[in-house]
Amino acid sequence: MDDATIVSLDGPFLAGGRHPRCSQSEVAHKAQNLHASRARLASNVVSHCTKLVERKRKVSEMILVTGGAGYIGSHVCIALLDAGLEVVAVDNLCNSNKASLDRVQSICGRTLVFRHADIRNEEVIYDVLRACGVTAVIHLAGLKAVGDSNVRPMTYYENNVLGTMRLVSAMKRANVKTLVFSSSATVYGIPRYLPLDEKHPLGPTNPYGRTKLVIEEMLKDLYRSDDDWRIGNLRYFNPVGAHESGLVGEDPLGVPSNLLPFVAQVAIGRREKLLIWGQDYDTPDGTGIRDECVAPAETARCAYGQSWHW
Ligand SMILES: NC(=O)c1ccc[n+]([C@@H]2O[C@H](COP(=O)([O-])OP(=O)(O)OC[C@H]3O[C@@H](n4cnc5c(N)ncnc54)[C@H](O)[C@@H]3O)[C@@H](O)[C@H]2O)c1
Repeated sequence: MDDATIVSLDGPFLAGGRHPRCSQSEVAHKAQNLHASRARLASNVVSHCTKLVERKRKVSEMILVTGGAGYIGSHVCIALLDAGLEVVAVDNLCNSNKASLDRVQSICGRTLVFRHADIRNEEVIYDVLRACGVTAVIHLAGLKAVGDSNVRPMTYYENNVLGTMRLVSAMKRANVKTLVFSSSATVYGIPRYLPLDEKHPLGPTNPYGRTKLVIEEMLKDLYRSDDDWRIGNLRYFNPVGAHESGLVGEDPLGVPSNLLPFVAQVAIGRREKLLIWGQDYDTPDGTGIRDECVAPAETARCAYGQSWHW
């Protein structure tokens, strides 16, 4: 029975108590049906409203993504928007381009808020947290090139460690105490066994890795001091690949410090060739096999043109 039938039956029943053209039993039967369909309608309305409330609750969650314009950040923004959450991305664009966030928005068909800012600027971060009503932070902003960190260690400590301190301080003031921190598998150092697990001893071998470990320890101390905090440290290995649309991928500024973006830049003609290093590794030709790409550039170019999965 649809809504219109219910409405048309309401008049005679409510007004007369008994339908003029029906017998007593027919009236009882119709009344029973009417009752059942009203119950069904009510239950549909309740379930519809519950969904709306749930959706509204989700939509009102605002997540701050630091380093949101970067490689991992742009994919995180897509996942959050696709899940119905609101996003504010903060990035100083030292290794990325705002165009990636324009693409994120066109992929998702939704908008996000972008603030061109440095996480070391505590006041700006505090303003963003308060003005946008942020409820949780995914912290990806950081410098990440291992070789560069050997050359400029203090820049890495200042950007990564001090930046996280300022971010956390702003969060504390704004009473936002949920944080996911992008650490790195580099905190394990040279593997003593494989596959690595969380029990593996920690011992980073470069300044970049040490900044990540210092931050992890700092966040542990913060949690010990106040267990209202909810903190997750994610120790990523090197992610590769791009969004299936091909619109968002790893596109660092300057010379890439990871192999795969280098391969991609050769594949699309932005760079002439890929240099393969090493002469005295214990391999058939002396090069470091772990650093070689077995796919010819043409394959990579085709893959890049469509969708980019390794
Ligand atoms: N990609 C990897 O292989 C990998 C592996 C392990 C961990 N991580 C970590 O994940 C995070 C994201 O990595 P990614 O590959 O997306 O790097 P990315 O360089 O593409 O993204 C980092 C973003 O942070 C921004 N940024 C840097 N310092 C900032 C600051 N002080 N204030 C505001 N923005 C700042 C950069 O402009 C960039 O957009 C980094 O913290 C990195 O250390 C990456």
